[in-house]
Amino acid sequence: MIQVRLARYDELAAMLEVAMLSFEETFAPHNTREDMDIFYRDNYTLEKMQQEFRQPNTALFLALDEERVLGFVRLRKNDEVKEKLGDSTLELQRLYIHPQHQGKRIGSLLMEKALEYAKGLKVDWMWLGVWERNFNAQKFYAKWGFERFGEHTFLHGTDPQIDWLLKRKV
Ligand SMILES: CC(C)(COP(=O)(O)OP(=O)(O)OC[C@H]1O[C@@H](n2cnc3c(N)ncnc32)[C@H](O)[C@@H]1OP(=O)(O)O)[C@@H](O)C(=O)NCCC(=O)NCCS
Repeated sequence: MIQVRLARYDELAAMLEVAMLSFEETFAPHNTREDMDIFYRDNYTLEKMQQEFRQPNTALFLALDEERVLGFVRLRKNDEVKEKLGDSTLELQRLYIHPQHQGKRIGSLLMEKALEYAKGLKVDWMWLGVWERNFNAQKFYAKWGFERFGEHTFLHGTDPQIDWLLKRKV
């Protein structure tokens, strides 16, 4: 029985492991080892996860089977897309499912929870950035009704890459 709930501080290490496995599988085939390692160093350390955990205006939900972490979603309020979507937005910043558990609707469970949380905040839009070549994730977001509204450049290690910006009415 899969449970979705807010993450605890002592679960961050397990979440980091899931994030790295999932990120590695999705992005390593298309990027240099050097860029992957720079990205991990700058983004995926336990210290960084702990810092992010304490940030206000964020929420972290995870999916568990018994006590095993299968995936997580991080949400945050910010004004990055204010010019395009206005003030009432929530960013779906990270969504990662363990590679051995993808395609089992765990991402969908986390998306449901994210939308429920957004409704509770009474925001108008949920938005996110997805790599232009991450076709599986794009397909997933399209199923969830997300539409493209722009793009931004994202530095992956030393490589500037394009992220599509997707939005969905809450
Ligand atoms: C993208 C991701 C979050 C989706 O979560 P998931 O639990 O695997 O997805 P679900 O089982 O809920 O799938 C829902 C739909 O998405 C699509 N989909 C998801 N993963 C897919 C995959 N690996 N291959 C093809 N289609 C996929 C399918 O169309 C599926 O619809 P269906 O059930 O009608 O076939 C997950 O696969 C993941 O963590 N991927 C790697 C990391 C990543 O890219 N994160 C997003 C960064 S922006």
